[in-house]
Amino acid sequence: MPSTRHNSLFIVFEGGEGAGKSTQASLLAERLHLAGSRPVRTREPGGTPVAEAIRELVLNPPAPMSDRCEALLFAAARADHAHQFIYPHLAVGEVVISDRYLDSSLAYQGAARGLTVADVAELSGWATENLVPDLTIVLDVDPRRGLARAQDGNRMESEAMAFHDAVRDAFLALAGREPHRYLVLDADQPINVIAEAVWTAVSERLLDLAGPR
Ligand code: TYD
Repeated sequence: MPSTRHNSLFIVFEGGEGAGKSTQASLLAERLHLAGSRPVRTREPGGTPVAEAIRELVLNPPAPMSDRCEALLFAAARADHAHQFIYPHLAVGEVVISDRYLDSSLAYQGAARGLTVADVAELSGWATENLVPDLTIVLDVDPRRGLARAQDGNRMESEAMAFHDAVRDAFLALAGREPHRYLVLDADQPINVIAEAVWTAVSERLLDLAGPR
């Protein structure tokens, strides 16, 4: 359901395990709210009842699943999330802040699982009718430190270090390909320093939306 998206912004936080995405997402939402915007927070996998059910399946499967099944489940969850949640909120001029989106699939399934970034990009492009974020903020952390502070114990965390290194490299490579759509921040910096850099980038985009004054 692609539609006009004036005055809306779609912002995504990405990064490996324990990068501090949800902390930054909630700080950004508070700040947007104070600035008079209408932020809505969401996450992947998840964000709709069906996508949350898929989340449960893909993160806690009853038995090991194949890599392609995993990629399709993340894409299926994203399809529902985009169609039922993200597009409708953007259509009414809101600022959607998502904890993970497309690039997580490119990094985890495409790069780290080896399904190729190109194939997974095509799958997610189809699933979302090519919905691309306006700004993707990559919170970059060495997985050795990130995993030490990750708390949710999801099944990706038990993958080998080479897997997490591949995820990190993929996020950085994606950001390097389209620097105008990405902000890469060192997640080891203090929380308020990261929040300030996020706010600078987001407020620039809000000014762009407001147009020339
Ligand atoms: P979650 O508990 O939300 O972890 P985090 O707090 O790190 O975001 O679990 C999501 C896990 O699913 C995380 O390990 C990343 C992984 N993932 C993928 O592999 N592919 C995807 O497309 C998405 C959205 C997440």
